Amino acid sequence: MTQTNPDQLSVPPDGKPYHEQPQWRNDFPIDWPQDELVARRDFTKFLVLTSFAFAFGQVWIAFENFARKRRGRPPIRMIARLAAVPVGSSVTFAYPDAHDDCVLVRTGTARFVAYSQKCTHLSCAVTPQLEKNCLYCPCHHGFFDLATGIPTAGPPRRPLPRISLEIRDGAIYATGVEVRA
Ligand code: FES
Repeated sequence: MTQTNPDQLSVPPDGKPYHEQPQWRNDFPIDWPQDELVARRDFTKFLVLTSFAFAFGQVWIAFENFARKRRGRPPIRMIARLAAVPVGSSVTFAYPDAHDDCVLVRTGTARFVAYSQKCTHLSCAVTPQLEKNCLYCPCHHGFFDLATGIPTAGPPRRPLPRISLEIRDGAIYATGVEVRA
């Protein structure tokens, strides 16, 4: 195909003239002559659609916050009987939802800690290492202090969400999730 217009720099891959090209090729031209043909109305349409998308995003965030507040406090749920968790051992459980994996560690006769197992770096599962007094993330060698859940080494910067616990009637219960910055 011969170029008749010296400003015409490109030829569509199928070689057909521009008026036979799909609409998107005309809407987003790559050559200067066609670029000047983008109507003000099309540009306004683009701006309105983009603004609408942003506005919708804001409404969605507000709705999510509202729904979270309505859900209120997480349920109180039994994790295990005391006898099932000897000192120096740990058990995994799901809280507050079935896909929220957590770990409970018994560090003393009457001392327990529980955290979300999701590493605050890139969400790999952390595992307790009692002999080192830490929780370890194998993905990028992240370490968290066992007593506080605060990161001590590796890439994680935020503490693990802590699960509030209550002990009664010979059992350990999860009563809430404390997300810390
Ligand atoms: S995901 Fe845990 S250290 Fe990267």
